[in-house]
Amino acid sequence: MCSPDFEKRISEIRRRMEKQNLDILFVTKPEDKYYLSGFESSNFYIVLTDKSSYMLTDFRYFEAARKKNCQGFEIIKVDSKHSIFDFLSKYDKMSIGIEEKHLTADEFKILEQIFTSEKIFFSQNIFEEQRLIKDSSEIRSIRKAAEIADYAFSNILKHIGPGMSEREIAIKMESFMKKEGASRLSFDIIAASGERSALPHGLASERIIQKGDFLTLDFGCMVDHYCSDMTRTVAIGKASDEKKSVYNTVKDAQQAALDKVKPGISTSEADKIARSIIDRAGYGECFGHGLGHGVGLEVHEAPRLSPSCHSYLREGMVVTVEPGIYIADSFGVRIEDLVVITQNGIDNLTTSNKELIII
Ligand code: GLY
Ligand code: MN
Ligand code: MN
Repeated sequence: MCSPDFEKRISEIRRRMEKQNLDILFVTKPEDKYYLSGFESSNFYIVLTDKSSYMLTDFRYFEAARKKNCQGFEIIKVDSKHSIFDFLSKYDKMSIGIEEKHLTADEFKILEQIFTSEKIFFSQNIFEEQRLIKDSSEIRSIRKAAEIADYAFSNILKHIGPGMSEREIAIKMESFMKKEGASRLSFDIIAASGERSALPHGLASERIIQKGDFLTLDFGCMVDHYCSDMTRTVAIGKASDEKKSVYNTVKDAQQAALDKVKPGISTSEADKIARSIIDRAGYGECFGHGLGHGVGLEVHEAPRLSPSCHSYLREGMVVTVEPGIYIADSFGVRIEDLVVITQNGIDNLTTSNKELIII
């Protein structure tokens, strides 16, 4: 399959609606609306009933929505006289599922007046569960986004050196990725050097790279709205024995997890494989985040790979494997790959070298 099969996605969502006894689903989260229609705009709603699919938008986007020709959708213009809530009012006797994390308190109050609270159900999980398993068109976009990130990493290595600021590095990487076809970054680039490499999410600053630093680069880009996410830590000029040893511990922890991750293994078990290696090396306290997370239309989505999450990995999930050690006020290391869970193991979409690179 080359292009997204929106009709199939909608019918799967309808099956989930039926299971939850929902007559209507009110879709307000941007990624979920895109997932169902391939359309995005700043003012746009999707309403699904058991048989009909509606896209509602205002004058500014109405023609664009019509031209997009979203299969199976009826497109309805809303304005101040005929709002989305006027549209929903005709279903006032029915049960409605809402996306509880993507509705304002104001909007919720209006819905309560229309439907009464007994008929409103929090249904965000419908999309969270549906989007766990990626179809081939989604994997193709994520793979392309991961290839572009790999390309940006190999290119930036030719430029990095003492005297350059973290910000200059981030700007160059962003430009490499956009020139290669990325539409946006998955998130602001993390470029953390020296002591700042101990900050797990140290955004690029004006700090100047110095000989002897570790530099952690965590970045990703978007292709067709799908994200990539990868991290590499490199050494500038030289690396002390302690730094080399910490680096190799993280590398071994990651490799052990990559070797074992496959369908049927629980997300907490996956985390434990890497964590136990870091624990044994004496750095357990310095690995304060989970092993990974799902990636798709969002850079952080279900499932979570962490000690407290007990779901199971399944074929078609796309997750990161990203152990790290962060020694406060000293230095840090993280290595992150993006992998597809396959029938027997993984397809690693991140191909950049993991031996310690000393630039
Ligand atoms: N860039 C954030 C993360 O790797 O999860
Ligand atoms: Mn990352
Ligand atoms: Mn990540």
